[in-house]
Amino acid sequence: MTASVTGGRSVRELLREATQRLQVAHAADDIDEARLQAELLYGLATGLDRAQVIAAGNDAAAPAAIEAFEALIERRVQHEPFAYILGKREFFGMTFEVGPGCLVPRPETETLVEAALEAIKAHPEARRLVRVADIGTGSGAIALSVARHAPNTTVYAVDVSTAALQWAGKNMRRFDLQDRVVLLAGDLAEPLTEPIDVLLANLPYVPTDEFEALPAQIREREPRLAVEGGPDGVELIARLAQQLDAHLASVAAAIFEVGAGQISWVEELVTRALTEAGRTGLDVRFHRDLRGIRRVLEVRMGYPKED
Ligand SMILES: C[S@@+](CC[C@H](N)C(=O)[O-])C[C@H]1O[C@@H](n2cnc3c(N)ncnc32)[C@H](O)[C@@H]1O
Repeated sequence: MTASVTGGRSVRELLREATQRLQVAHAADDIDEARLQAELLYGLATGLDRAQVIAAGNDAAAPAAIEAFEALIERRVQHEPFAYILGKREFFGMTFEVGPGCLVPRPETETLVEAALEAIKAHPEARRLVRVADIGTGSGAIALSVARHAPNTTVYAVDVSTAALQWAGKNMRRFDLQDRVVLLAGDLAEPLTEPIDVLLANLPYVPTDEFEALPAQIREREPRLAVEGGPDGVELIARLAQQLDAHLASVAAAIFEVGAGQISWVEELVTRALTEAGRTGLDVRFHRDLRGIRRVLEVRMGYPKED
């Protein structure tokens, strides 16, 4: 869609103008990110990869390319999440399809997947089949990364949102994991019918007042059901804590992603619920995300002692 002719607007000029618009609209954190978004969106509009977009800098952009590109920039200026416009997001080395109705997977959630893979490896059933549940699966990011990287698992992926489950289903077929991943619609752990060895949950944890202060691209465009966790943020996690004993095998791990500063509170909620249900010998672990925040709580029960 580009031609080496003089006159008209060059690709470089278009990218410069778009970068400025994205910055003014706060669609990017800094000029480098705005420029990257502009290049990727020009690539989406024209079918070029990023290297080709950069190489085309001096070319005059074709009118059809300008129109398609400006429509994409306008969507971003109107706060549509960048990943929704591209239709995909990288997570744990895999490309997930995403769009309205599911949360865009966040990098910090990779910490939960790493903890899950360790807990699966250390489980006494690891030589046979480990039963895993992902509660609040969204795009399927956690469930499908775990299924892909731990072939000795069956993964039950639960969500209350049918829109989210449609994205999870698309991704499940994309990665050809339908033999080992089961999608279930329903509330928290309720749809689970067999004991779970490793239970994972990245449930909404943003308190209501903090939700109101989030950037428009999250507050207005991603599902509120995926982000807001009630007045204290931990409403759903607290409810799931009460269901754990009924759904966990005797040797099990439960692993939760939590908001910054919530981990001690969630530890208390989960260990109290398990202790009151008669579980003993709880082994509590914390995992930090890449920013150093204690992001993931893991509680193992009945695991053999490590050397
Ligand atoms: C923070 S998002 C996590 C999505 C995905 N697991 C990830 O890590 O990217 C929370 C998910 O929990 C789901 N959810 C909210 N309330 C739920 C409930 N009561 N039962 C099951 N899922 C629920 C939402 O629909 C959303 O998909």
